[in-house]
Amino acid sequence: MLRKVRKVVIPAAGLGTRFLPATKAMPKEMLCVVDKPIIQYAVEEAVASGIEHIIIVTGRSKSSMEDHFDIAFELEATLRERGKLDLVREARKVSDLASVSYIRQKEPLGLGHAVLAARDLVGDAPFAVMLPDDLIDSPRKAALRQMIEVFERTGDPVIALLKVALKDISAYGVIKGEQDAKDPRIYVLQELVEKPKMEDAPSDLAIMGRYILTPDIFEDLATTARDKGGEIQLTNGLRALSTRRRLLGYEFEGMRYDAGQKLGFLKATVDLALQRDDLGPALREHLKSLGL
Ligand code: UTP
Repeated sequence: MLRKVRKVVIPAAGLGTRFLPATKAMPKEMLCVVDKPIIQYAVEEAVASGIEHIIIVTGRSKSSMEDHFDIAFELEATLRERGKLDLVREARKVSDLASVSYIRQKEPLGLGHAVLAARDLVGDAPFAVMLPDDLIDSPRKAALRQMIEVFERTGDPVIALLKVALKDISAYGVIKGEQDAKDPRIYVLQELVEKPKMEDAPSDLAIMGRYILTPDIFEDLATTARDKGGEIQLTNGLRALSTRRRLLGYEFEGMRYDAGQKLGFLKATVDLALQRDDLGPALREHLKSLGL
């Protein structure tokens, strides 16, 4: 079986209600952390992981995302006239990142439904899924790359895992799994539960927004029953898939921020700015001066 992962699906069609009013006319994925929209972090991680083709699932107001990854002729011409060639290069870097396609999810009927919308563009090959609001900073090796390497070795679908505090567990999909004897980051999945109550959670290992999947998941998504809210959940599709094949969980190395909610977004902004040579020292001074 083919084990090269060339394509990634990035669902970006959610309503982003937790970020209203910022997301009234702009997708959540275009909110800016330091100086880049959230979705650009995901695209850069994908490219650093060896992905060649990015498929973005869009909903309303998709044009800002298309424009962001496209060449901005007028902006470039104006910058060139003003002799700002370094800024021309900066703008170009984004459009040169990767080949990007867009597909529309006509209604926001859940993450599983968004992934299903990309079926024809993905075709019959393994692919990755990345949720851009899980922003992962992993300087040593991109989180998605870590997972692709597990897939290349095993051929089994791989789901990103992170230990979370039990009081927060009901916000996530949660797994029960058997830890691999050789690599303690790997778990063979035995159970997947979407948003369990704390007392029902099978572990403290929560599913994060990175997946390496095989195309047989599409059949499961197409036949998965909708939940109470009328949505197709990816976790439910994965549970159906797990009856037919082995699924792995992988506790990736890296710092994850939930940039889809306000506190996580603020933490990402501060931490990533502190790492920067041009902003870090001055921001550190400012934070110290607050005497917290
Ligand atoms: P979330 O669960 O964060 O939902 O989606 P949301 O609608 O974006 O945000 P809130 O909860 O209203 O604040 C996780 C990811 O799945 C995408 C989102 O864009 C986000 O990247 N998604 C979700 C879709 O593409 N389509 C959907 O129908 C739902």
